[in-house]
Amino acid sequence: MIKFENVIKKYNHQNALDGVNLLVHRGEFISLVGLSGAGKSTLMKLIIGEEQIDGGRILIDDVDISRVKKRDLPYLRRKIGMVFQDIKLLPKRTAFENVAFAMEVCGHRMEKIVKEVPKILDLVGLIHKKDSFPHEMSGGERQRVAIARALSHRPVLLLADEPTGNLDEVNASEVIDLLLKINQLGTTVILATHASDLVNKIKKRVITIEGGKITMEQEKGKYKL
Ligand SMILES: Nc1ncnc2c1ncn2[C@@H]1O[C@H](COP(=O)(O)OP(=O)(O)O)[C@@H](O)[C@H]1O
Ligand SMILES: [Mg+2]
Repeated sequence: MIKFENVIKKYNHQNALDGVNLLVHRGEFISLVGLSGAGKSTLMKLIIGEEQIDGGRILIDDVDISRVKKRDLPYLRRKIGMVFQDIKLLPKRTAFENVAFAMEVCGHRMEKIVKEVPKILDLVGLIHKKDSFPHEMSGGERQRVAIARALSHRPVLLLADEPTGNLDEVNASEVIDLLLKINQLGTTVILATHASDLVNKIKKRVITIEGGKITMEQEKGKYKL
């Protein structure tokens, strides 16, 4: 599904990614681990086309993304959901409205939105919070609303960049469990994190990145740094 061929990304003549080769198959759950500054976010930004590469090639479903026209990028991005450490929900909108708004922006019709949003909130275990505002929810619940919002486009790939970075242990493991569930339902997931305890519990493929290079790949591996 995703192929990185000798990918190089520079910021101010410094290599943030330094010859990355990576193959992600449909349906996989990948933990991308590494210290702060290792290049995890850069790798994800390249996948969604938010940053351009300086060398090599990235193929998504055999399409070279550097050849995708700017006006076609939104279609590519719609196949990809993304969540971040910093959860940006609309503060004056309920959980339901936050997800509904994302669908409205994409031009979905109201009938469809009204039907879909409860299903998605149910999937993330928050149907009982549908009328709650962000300030009435825990950090973990807010992140699950953000995940619901990302899922509203029915992405084939979900990128989660340090989604548990601001959460305590209990909330963090709720979010990880949800990502695993989403993966089981068929969505490919890439989780970027530096939290070793979480990754060791996941027991899926682990890719370690250090100084912009992939230094280790383990099946059901353990993360040590
Ligand atoms: N917009 C930017 N401008 C300049 N340097 C950047 C920018 N974004 C990232 N970098 C640098 O690229 C490297 C990788 O950063 P990043 O991908 O954010 O790492 P991680 O997500 O693993 O913490 C770091 O050295 C960082 O300082
Ligand atoms: Mg990062």
